[in-house]
Formats: sequence, structure tokens, C-alpha cells
Amino acid sequence: MSSGITITQFIIEEQRRIPGASGEFTLLLNDLVSATKVIANAVNKGALAGVLGAAGSSNVQGEDQKKLDVISNDVMIESTNWSGHLAAMASEEMDEILPIPAEYPKGKYLLLFDPLDGSSNIDVNISVGTIFSILKAPEGKSAATTEDFLQPGTQQVCAGYALYGPSTMLVITSGHGVNGFTLDRNVGEYYLTHPNMQVPDDTQEFAINASNARFWEAPVKRYVDECLAGKEGPRAKDFNMRWVASMVAEVHRILTRGGIFMYPRDTKDPSKAGKLRLMYEANPMSFIVEQAGGVCSTGRERIMTLPPSGLHQRVPVILGSKNEVDKVVQYHKDMD
Ligand code: AHG
Ligand code: MN
Ligand code: MN
Repeated sequence: MSSGITITQFIIEEQRRIPGASGEFTLLLNDLVSATKVIANAVNKGALAGVLGAAGSSNVQGEDQKKLDVISNDVMIESTNWSGHLAAMASEEMDEILPIPAEYPKGKYLLLFDPLDGSSNIDVNISVGTIFSILKAPEGKSAATTEDFLQPGTQQVCAGYALYGPSTMLVITSGHGVNGFTLDRNVGEYYLTHPNMQVPDDTQEFAINASNARFWEAPVKRYVDECLAGKEGPRAKDFNMRWVASMVAEVHRILTRGGIFMYPRDTKDPSKAGKLRLMYEANPMSFIVEQAGGVCSTGRERIMTLPPSGLHQRVPVILGSKNEVDKVVQYHKDMD
């Protein structure tokens, strides 16, 4: 049985607390809510809707696109480009920024998104997600440029993710804490189920792709070795390990029961600073995790203060429970 506060009610009530708010942001969020419902439906139908498998194309980063990467990208565009709230948008799946078509009015926000995160998991029926970040467009410009998007994460107005798992959830922050909503498929509405989500300061669970261990830098190697040594090691406690390969699922687990997630800098491909992308993965997730009391770092800098150099820039990501992330950051200081 569903009852309680719908996401629409929640964001309208939030808007009322901001004197002079125009309601434009609320309407933009509503568009995003609709987009995630459409994507959830496609993900849920899977093979029945013929949406699994490869699209036969690759994106700007040279990654093979899945059909659902392309479908989700189209849904995000079509749900948001007509309503007059955006100046432009950018996506993992598009080389360049996408201006708003001439026939539609332009708005004051910029939208960045990863339409489908964890796409290696689609065909094996494991959780995937959508990540988004909203920035303000600089005022007084007739057409948005790529440079307009290159704002540090601290400038984000809102960030969120949808998790298409056993339940579909939407988790958002606009800088006043983090709230989680669960989709009731029969009603077609998200309801507030996880108010004021908090990342516990301590954890005994870490997430990292250990197949890259030989490429890690010394501080990360040291941290993971000490976790693996368990009760008998320097940490004097046993750790558990998880790796879903969907950042959305990992972050959601950390928001629910704590943990540390790492996709650190490694030496596998010296041309890449990490795997995850700053503008539509690391920054929005950092905003959410920090708003829930967690910490997000490259190991050397706070992610949200990094000056962006490109739309598809990659960064090392170490995020989650405060005391563990602080420890990894300290190891970087000690060993650099
Ligand atoms: P995407 O599917 O949007 O390209 O992102 C996948 C990312 C992230 O979600 C996950 O943490 C990581 O890539 C998994 O990488 P590995 O396959 O190297 O484990
Ligand atoms: Mn991703
Ligand atoms: Mn993706």
C-alpha cells in the first residue's frame, strides 16, 4: 500500500521554503522524475521489450554502447528539452553539449547526466542507474557553450540518481540533506521512503575492482592490504568486500549502511586519471554523499573543488564513510 509524501509534493514544499523561487527548478525536477520512470520501465521489461544487448556503436570515450545506453540517453533528452527550463545539456553518451532545439524556449539551468550507469550489468539483470547534475547557466548569454558547463562540483544546484534495482528508487539533494523515494509501479509515483539519508562515519565494508590491484598506487594498496589482513592486521577488525560494477548501486549501499568505494588513479592507462567521469558521475555522487555526511576525494583533493578541464574528464574517486576515506587520504599524504 502506498501513501505518504509523493516526490512532487516534497519538491513543491521545498520550493515554498525558498522565498521568491520561480518554480522553474521544481518543473525541471519533475521532467527528470518522468524520465526515470520511462527508463525504469524499459529496464524492467528487458528482453520482453527487446532492449538488451549491444547498440553496435561506441561513445566519445571509445566504449561500446548498449541499446539501453542509447534509449536512456534519448529518454533523458526528450523528457527535458521541450519544457523551457534548460539552456543546454551534456551526457556521457554525447561527444559535445546538446543545445536546446530552436523551436523551444531556453531556461536558466544546465543538465549533465550519465543516462545509464553500470551498463555492463544490463544483460545480466543486475542493478543499473541514472545519474544527473544540475548547474546554473551563466546569465545574459544567448547560447550555452561547453565552458559554461565546466563549473566545480560545489556549484551544483541539485544532484540525484535513480537506481533500477529490486525497487526503483530516486535519491536527490539540492543542498539540504539527501532524501530517497521509492517508485510504486502500480500508482506510477515516487514516495518518500528514506528521509534524511546519512552515511555512517565508520564502516567495515570496502568496494574496489581488485582485478586492478597490480596497477594501484601505494596508498590504496596499503589501505586494501590492511583491510584484507582483518583482525590479525593493523586494523584489528575484519572487513567485508563488495563490487557491483554499478557506481549507483555502490553509492546507494553506502548511503544505506556505510562503506567506502574506490575507483582510484592507477597505472593501467597513464593517459587516464581514473575511470569515472567528473562532470556526470563523480561530482553529482560527491554532492549526494557529502550532503549525507560522507567524504569524497581523489585521494589528494576534494572532488567537488576540482576545476574541470573537459566535459568527459576522468578523475580518481574515493568516497563514503568519513573515517575510512580520511584514512586513505592520510595514506596519500604520508606516502606522496
Ligand atoms: P558506465 O556504465 O556509465 O560506463 O559506468 C560504469 C562505471 C561505474 O558505474 C562502475 O563503478 C565502474 O564503471 C565499473 O568498472 P569496472 O568494469 O572496471 O569494474
Ligand atoms: Mn557511469
Ligand atoms: Mn553510463
